[in-house]
Amino acid sequence: MVYTQKSPSTVSSIQEFKLAYFGRVLSHSRLGEVYKLCCHSQGIDLKLRQFEVEPKELKAKMLNLKSQSGTHICITVPYKVQAFELCDFLTERARQAGSVNIIRNQQGVFYGDNSDGEGFIRDVKSNNRLSFRNKKLLVLGAGGVLRGMLMELIDQCPKSILICNRSQERLQKIKRDFPFDLISTCTYKNIPQEPFDFIINATSASIQGHHLPLNPAIIGPETHCLESAYKIAEHTIFQKWAFASGAKSSINGLGMLVEQAVVALDFFSNLSINSSPILKHYERQKSN
Ligand SMILES: NC(=O)c1ccc[n+]([C@@H]2O[C@H](COP(=O)([O-])OP(=O)(O)OC[C@H]3O[C@@H](n4cnc5c(N)ncnc54)[C@H](OP(=O)(O)O)[C@@H]3O)[C@@H](O)[C@H]2O)c1
Repeated sequence: MVYTQKSPSTVSSIQEFKLAYFGRVLSHSRLGEVYKLCCHSQGIDLKLRQFEVEPKELKAKMLNLKSQSGTHICITVPYKVQAFELCDFLTERARQAGSVNIIRNQQGVFYGDNSDGEGFIRDVKSNNRLSFRNKKLLVLGAGGVLRGMLMELIDQCPKSILICNRSQERLQKIKRDFPFDLISTCTYKNIPQEPFDFIINATSASIQGHHLPLNPAIIGPETHCLESAYKIAEHTIFQKWAFASGAKSSINGLGMLVEQAVVALDFFSNLSINSSPILKHYERQKSN
């Protein structure tokens, strides 16, 4: 496995873009719609195939696509780690994350990358004009998304990153794979009861409609709450809790979804997409 970055294909050679999307349940996902908006903004037709598969079916169905060079792949919950194992080559950040959400399928070779972290940081910095520099971060969850985000978060030079998770097992893997002084871990019972600058929800609790066992004492008037899940017309359950607890702002994961697709389309086919009209499209939907 070696580092690889760009696709050799050129923009002018693309009239249609073929994407296969894998997950366990895809009904909640807007990813296909976001890719469609991105492709249409370049006059490109999107041919999307969705695969809702059981864990034992994933490998065969994904490897089957090797004979269809140019059909690139997106992967969502809970298969990002399994998909990582099926790649022939990985970018450095995917290797470090131990999970992939995008695979470039080129002449029967799978090149894996992870665009979640870069998508998240682009949304925070460029779209919302926020900075993590010297800030105290509390991150909830230790699954695939957190693993994809972590190196990008470290690169933003925060003061500290406290990672809280329900199960100890995932926390131990994080400690082993990311041995950095600014990172510490805890469970929900041990979260210090004082305000953080940022609280990032990287759990899948919101998509299950579950409350996290959090005390409002961790939110102060300057706390920003960032959510990986998203809803178009209303706030997620975590965002509702954040606002009710006095957070300064609460941003959902739609901007991250758009930005990670922009990063992915560059990785797949060197496409250069402007996210602004797509974000505006969703802003209009919100206000309708
Ligand atoms: N906006 C975007 O572009 C984007 C991109 C990717 C993913 N996401 C979202 O990010 C979230 C996480 O995805 P993932 O790939 O990291 O999933 P994952 O690998 O399955 O990990 C799920 C994480 O959530 C925790 N969790 C689940 N239910 C919980 C509950 N009821 N209470 C407390 N913790 C709970 C798990 O804790 P345990 O270890 O204790 O089980 C684990 O840490 C999902 O909501 C997904 O939709 C958004």
